Amino acid sequence: MGRFRSEKDSDYFKVLDDAINAYTWAAIVKLQEKKVVEEVLGPVGQGKEAKLVLAKRGDGTYAVLKIFYPVPVRFVKSRYSYLLGDPRFRGLKISDQLHLVETWCRKEFGNLSRAHSAGVRVPKPYGFYRNVLAMQFIGVDRSPAPLLVDVGLENLEDPDHVFYEVLKSLEKTYVLAGLVHGDLSPFNILYDGENPWIIDWGSAVRRGHPRELEYLRRDVERVLEFFGTPIPPQELFKKLVERGTWQGRVDVDNEGWLLVGGRRILE
Ligand SMILES: Nc1ncnc2c1ncn2[C@@H]1O[C@H](COP(=O)(O)OP(=O)(O)OP(=O)(O)O)[C@@H](O)[C@H]1O
Ligand SMILES: [Mg+2]
Repeated sequence: MGRFRSEKDSDYFKVLDDAINAYTWAAIVKLQEKKVVEEVLGPVGQGKEAKLVLAKRGDGTYAVLKIFYPVPVRFVKSRYSYLLGDPRFRGLKISDQLHLVETWCRKEFGNLSRAHSAGVRVPKPYGFYRNVLAMQFIGVDRSPAPLLVDVGLENLEDPDHVFYEVLKSLEKTYVLAGLVHGDLSPFNILYDGENPWIIDWGSAVRRGHPRELEYLRRDVERVLEFFGTPIPPQELFKKLVERGTWQGRVDVDNEGWLLVGGRRILE
């Protein structure tokens, strides 16, 4: 990186952006070759570390590509002047940064797959390559479903139903998938007009992680807060932990509730 530093900033960033775009484009072409997606349509969303692009699949359905960008591309732009003087930055090569986002992408794909297999309502994962993750598009025609936080509790047709569906997903995530989402809140839940979809699985951790319970407690609190705290957070947290450590049989009833020792969580 050092050799660009003597040149004009704009040249430096252009070279960097071009390189990353070419790299990302090659990953998308790979996903097309693997028949994960067929056609790339255009941007549909923007996260802090990722851009979301709409694509079409061979069967005519839509997918989204979540494209992870090395943070420094934007980070560097705003803080270029600070970083220039920082000796630690000198060692961080673009290849290391790409490696980091690829690890993140692989992790999100793995978590999403586990959650999906456990019956949590998440976008179906289709595949990934390098820094590009392909998953089911949640929306109508080409419009993405809104976030629960943007819809607001007062605008839900059936808030109790939505709460129960989030609760089922939360419990299946912990008990069946053995995961804690870690960033669960109405900012990471899409609402399709009827049901909630849990997204953004990059920060999920496996049970046994040193901060498992801290994250679980936070996820529980944020969810309950949105729904007006229908149950005390401590009570729900305790129930989840108990049910997660249950050694016996776990079933799913015909309404999608987990039966742990024959009982639903709210019984
Ligand atoms: N499967 C999907 N279908 C439709 N829209 C989606 C899908 N996944 C993500 N989005 C949209 O893209 C936005 C960003 O997605 P996501 O939260 O996964 O990205 P992020 O960069 O990790 O987010 P954050 O800004 O929370 O760090 C979401 O808020 C949502 O509006
Ligand atoms: Mg998000």
